Amino acid sequence: MTQTVSRPAASSGEAREPTLPLDVEAIRADFPILTRTVRDGKRLVYLDSGATSQKPRSVLDAERWFYENVNAAPHRGAHQLAEEATGAYEAARATIGAFIGAPENEIVFTRNSTESINLVAYALSNAATAKEPEFRRYAVGQGDEIVVTEMEHHANLLPWQQLCERTGATLRWLGLTDGGRLDLADLATVVNERTKLVAVTQQSNILGTINPLGEIIARAHGVGALVLVDGAQSVPHQPVDVTELGADFLVFSGHKMLGPTGVGVLWGRYDVLDALPPFLTGGSMIEVVRMEGSTFAAPPQRFEAGVPMTAQVIGLAAAVEYLQGLGMDRVEEHEKVLTGYALAKLAEIPGVTVIGPPDTVARGGAISFTVEGIHPHDVGQVLDDLGIAVRVGHHCAWPVVRRYGVPATTRATFYVHTGYDDIDALVEGVRAAQRFFGVTPEEATA
Ligand code: ALA
Repeated sequence: MTQTVSRPAASSGEAREPTLPLDVEAIRADFPILTRTVRDGKRLVYLDSGATSQKPRSVLDAERWFYENVNAAPHRGAHQLAEEATGAYEAARATIGAFIGAPENEIVFTRNSTESINLVAYALSNAATAKEPEFRRYAVGQGDEIVVTEMEHHANLLPWQQLCERTGATLRWLGLTDGGRLDLADLATVVNERTKLVAVTQQSNILGTINPLGEIIARAHGVGALVLVDGAQSVPHQPVDVTELGADFLVFSGHKMLGPTGVGVLWGRYDVLDALPPFLTGGSMIEVVRMEGSTFAAPPQRFEAGVPMTAQVIGLAAAVEYLQGLGMDRVEEHEKVLTGYALAKLAEIPGVTVIGPPDTVARGGAISFTVEGIHPHDVGQVLDDLGIAVRVGHHCAWPVVRRYGVPATTRATFYVHTGYDDIDALVEGVRAAQRFFGVTPEEATA
């Protein structure tokens, strides 16, 4: 697109209730990137936190502090810097564990949620060929079944497809209702005595749906299956406590929760982690190494081969402290209010259809929508021209857009710095896209 559009003034003087739970202006001042402008001087309206979140200064400072003062490889070397690096790295593990109610020995650091899920999937297939009998307990093979849902991000689908291809197991899945929810009508047949593991997202990255995990976990455990919860879109946005959750694994990514890129978490119940063979092997995950063969360290070290992403882990602990300072209950409530406001405003635009639950019941702040007569990529381009960053496409959840019969969607996602003015800009931007493409609201509904 070569022609540019100007952002219409947001409606003002409108009564807006309730007051947002978080002080958006104070929070914005903590995020250096939010002071920059985009597209010829326009304020950055960042509505793509679901893809990656922006970082507050305290996270940037924590990484810089590590490199300027401590930098050394943890768990190696006897010099002072190595000792301090180990201390800082392990203190961060305790902080991040406490954030989800977990002891530090159940926290494994990975690159991101994707790697955490692959770690579990590879450990389950490695279990089938492990020479150590104690590592064979969760082995997956022919006749076994892995259950996912049609709502999963590719990161929680492809590793299980690949595990099935490697082992001869069968992949089964729970479908979706027309309203954007999991269809649990077949839960008792899909999850059965052949099921080895159920992998399910807590919050859909595309529909915003928050899933009834209690029912799914109860059924899975009732048949002796493990449960992995993809928390990439939930842990950043709502309180999550692994004891209350009752699953066996929880994965999440640092970069989606105000932390650095390149660090993710696998939480696993200790007895389950302890029964799994490693995924990646190498330095620092060993007990004894001989030319003839080696034995492995206890978790979490067994799953952390190589020098870890130390500065990033320390940055993630700073992100966790920032979120704890705001209070996760308030973060959740803030996004709920914004989501209700955005859903109501978008519903006023003829031709706009939200793909996903239409209200805030068991729903987070990922809002995907289509605009009749305009391809989502074109909507995104008009919004971008106005300084509004959203994500367009299939959002790495291709089966979901296929299920709802659309090629793609435009998706807005919110976070702690999002305010009513950002939603107003989005809504006015969608109207601007309709004008730009000559699809007036009247035409859109005709
Ligand atoms: N998983 C990220 C998203 O949903 C990238 O946008």
